[in-house]
Amino acid sequence: MAYTIETIVPLGRSYDEYVEMFALTPSDLNGRILGCADGPASFNAIHSANGGSVVSADPLYDFSAEQIRLRIEETFSEAMRQVRINQSEFVWDSIGSVDELAHVRMQGMKRFLEDYPDGKSDGRYISCGLPDLPFEDQIFDLALCSHYLFLYSAQLSGAFHMRSIRELCRVAAEVRIFPLLEMGSVNSRHLDAVLASLRDGGYYCSVETVP
Ligand SMILES: C[S@@+](CC[C@H](N)C(=O)[O-])C[C@H]1O[C@@H](n2cnc3c(N)ncnc32)[C@H](O)[C@@H]1O
Repeated sequence: MAYTIETIVPLGRSYDEYVEMFALTPSDLNGRILGCADGPASFNAIHSANGGSVVSADPLYDFSAEQIRLRIEETFSEAMRQVRINQSEFVWDSIGSVDELAHVRMQGMKRFLEDYPDGKSDGRYISCGLPDLPFEDQIFDLALCSHYLFLYSAQLSGAFHMRSIRELCRVAAEVRIFPLLEMGSVNSRHLDAVLASLRDGGYYCSVETVP
C-alpha cells in the first residue's frame, strides 16, 4: 500500500515508555541515538530538550505538523477503541487503563507536534524509510526501532526485516528493536530466521527482557 497521510494512523509513545522498552541507561542516553520509525513519539522532543543527541527517521516527516495533527484528530478515537477491544493483549502494569493510555499517548503526541517544526529545521526529524537510510556508516552509537519491525510481520517480509536490520547495523554500533511480537501478541514469524541469518553474518544478537 502506498504511504500517504490518509493510510496512516499516527500513534506515538512517550519518553518514559522508550526508556523502559529499550532499557536505556544514563550511558545509552549520553550517546548519539537514532530513533527509526519514531513517528509522533515524544522521545526526540524530550531527549533533545534534556540536552541529548537524537535523530528520528520516518516517512511521516514528509508531512507538515498541521497534516499530522489533523490525521491524529481523525484517527485517535478509533485507535483507542481498538485498544479497548484488544485489552487482553496488553500488559497494564505501568499504564493502568485504556483512559490513562489515551492520556499518555495524546500528551506525548502534543509534545511531538510542538517540537516538530523546529526539530525538522534542525535536522532532528528526517523523512526517510527502511530499508535504506541516508546516514553515514556508524554515525550513531545506538539505533532504536519501536513498534515497526517485527510488529508488522504479516505485511513486511523476512527479507525486508533482514535488509532493514543490516541497514540499522550499518549506521549504528548497536540496534535495539521492540517488540519482537507481531500483531496478535505472538512471537514474530520472522524472528528465528532473522536471528539465525544475522548470527551467520557475524553479528552478535540477544533477546533481552526489559521493564
Ligand atoms: C506504530 S508507529 C510507531 C511509532 C513510534 N516508534 C512509537 O513507538 O510510538 C510505526 C511507525 O513506522 C513508520 N514507518 C512506516 N514505514 C516505515 C519505513 N519504511 N521505515 C521507517 N519507518 C516506517 C510509520 O510512519 C509510523 O510512524
